[in-house]
Amino acid sequence: MNKPEANSAVGDRPEGGVEQEPIYVTRTFLPPREEYLHWLDKAYASHVLTNNGPIHKELEESLRQRFQVPHLKLMANGTLALQLAIRALGLKGKVITTPFSYVATTSAILWEGCEPVFVDIDPKTCCIDPNLIEAAITPDTSAILATHVYGIPCDVEAINTIAKKHGLKVIYDAAHAFDVQYKGRSILQWGDASTLSFHATKLFHTVEGGAVVLHDAEADHRLRLLRSFGHVHDEHFTLGMNAKMSEVHAAMGMAILPHMDRIMAERKQLTLRYDELLAGAPVERPVVPAHTDYNYAYYPVILRDLAIREALLSALAAEGIHGRRYFFPSLDTLPYVQSKPCPNSHALADRTICLPLFNGMEVDTQQRIAQGIQSFFKLALQH
Ligand SMILES: Cc1ncc(COP(=O)(O)O)c(C=O)c1O
Repeated sequence: MNKPEANSAVGDRPEGGVEQEPIYVTRTFLPPREEYLHWLDKAYASHVLTNNGPIHKELEESLRQRFQVPHLKLMANGTLALQLAIRALGLKGKVITTPFSYVATTSAILWEGCEPVFVDIDPKTCCIDPNLIEAAITPDTSAILATHVYGIPCDVEAINTIAKKHGLKVIYDAAHAFDVQYKGRSILQWGDASTLSFHATKLFHTVEGGAVVLHDAEADHRLRLLRSFGHVHDEHFTLGMNAKMSEVHAAMGMAILPHMDRIMAERKQLTLRYDELLAGAPVERPVVPAHTDYNYAYYPVILRDLAIREALLSALAAEGIHGRRYFFPSLDTLPYVQSKPCPNSHALADRTICLPLFNGMEVDTQQRIAQGIQSFFKLALQH
């Protein structure tokens, strides 16, 4: 789902069986070609291809207004968005974070010279468990970096209370949380910063890309410098890097943006249909908290144990259906970090599969997947 290998997985074919189209966990949404060309024509006309060009500005402002946030900066990808958010907020020392996320959440902390301190997750929502955060705070702790896993909001109210009490900054990795609302407003309005990924496999994409939302004007000013080599004309202010988004990438975003409401409505239908087709199957689903307008970014299912998860993945792969272990592994087990084990995260990393979910998914494709799952369980339960 997340990276090219997920898109390019090669399916085993059933021996002697009818060859069926492989189904991958995601298929990138592409707007009608002429709509993308409309925006590319603008870049051709202006001869501006990067460096905060007019399409970039328009996308930045459109997203800022869509989320009703004070500051939003586009980035080259969601990983640099995390790194530069950490740097713009001046984090130092220890950062409390979740072990159940994509590796970039942890690697960004390490690249910025901070130390990740893993706090286990709430197995119902898959997000960091706020009840465990306070015990992990030490005098060296500067922040909490939590992920809205699958677009399911963290317990932002509890995290906010803890952060205020201990003077900590809060960053949300909102790579999955495009357009998620909590209590009627964008989830991106919470915390000191939120970061987004616009990778081609994400709900909204710019091929590669991302953004940082900030609430403080000074931090946003620092971020703008950090994104662009740390200088303005010939005056050098800080150590920066190149994390800019090009016009060609921003053009894809502008072409896709008008389709977003329809995309999410379609994914909601697909989700409800999966719920119906999988009724009775022994799978659990993460809990989306009350007062959430969800974006239907993913369809994760939680199996009983690792053995069943692996057996189901193989059975589906034999039918040309490619689910994905997501997230795997639990980040506290990475070879370059040291951590106390996080049992809830380990259990979910061993038991979870994200099923294929993408726009334009046909009813019979979805039926084929559900049929594969139901048949697997029929067989498994006989043994
Ligand atoms: C939760 C999470 N954080 C960060 C990233 C990194 O984003 P990108 O691939 O745009 O660098 C991703 C996706 O790849 C992600 O899923």
